[in-house]
Amino acid sequence: MAEINGPKHVAIIMDGNGRWAQMRGRPRLMGHHAGARRVREIVEACPAQGVKYLTVFAFSTENWKRTQSEVAGLMKLFRRYIQREARDLLANGVRVRFIGDRVRLDDKLVKMMDELELLTSDNDKIHLTVALNYGGRDEVARATKRLAFDVAAGKLAPKDVGDETLAQYLDTCFLPDPDLVIRTSGEARISNFLLWQSAYAEYEFIETLWPDFTADVFAQVLGNYQTRDRRFGAVKV
Ligand code: IPE
Ligand code: IPE
Ligand code: MG
Repeated sequence: MAEINGPKHVAIIMDGNGRWAQMRGRPRLMGHHAGARRVREIVEACPAQGVKYLTVFAFSTENWKRTQSEVAGLMKLFRRYIQREARDLLANGVRVRFIGDRVRLDDKLVKMMDELELLTSDNDKIHLTVALNYGGRDEVARATKRLAFDVAAGKLAPKDVGDETLAQYLDTCFLPDPDLVIRTSGEARISNFLLWQSAYAEYEFIETLWPDFTADVFAQVLGNYQTRDRRFGAVKV
């Protein structure tokens, strides 16, 4: 049964894949594969928890700094993931969308992302957004650039620019703000994730490594959220 006060939009920084593998004496990429398998379980757990929007951080604009083999392995994993999961995502009512800068991604992957977005565009049960080559600062900079072009073209007057205006230029223009941001693996930082959108999000930093993040752990974290008092700057009378 959906919790009345549960978060509608949960965003997750899926961290700790590398350490999970290293603890087992295995290559980091094996941790990424184990992590990818968890995504399905969490997506499928959403409806029962009343979560309509799930956004996951898969690759940051800073992750290009990793070794060429890890980056190439991740890109291959993203392609394989789309290929393998597309049919079930469609059948399970999941609408998939991607945020982040696609320019640096290879054409084959971008084509698969576009196709998956189109394929699932009529779904409405769960909205899964995957942040791929995503960085909050990069997103705001790209949005500002597009906004500036519209001003220069006379489509928008500078005096009309407010925070709602900028929000419409962000990659996340189709999403409500996240209610809850979860980061796994014990790191208490946001690493450039949804900077603008998380202005009033609740945060949960948990020790569990992403490949160990089960539907039960997810339910526990959502339970903690119920105890939060969200005031949005106001005083309750
Ligand atoms: C998160 O796991 C996945 C990506 C950033 C792609 P990490 O690869 O960052 O795992 P740790 O933090 O090194 O354990
Ligand atoms: C954030 O994790 C990015 C993703 C989970 C995709 P990182 O592991 O890249 O972040 P830092 O380097 O620990 O801040
Ligand atoms: Mg990490």
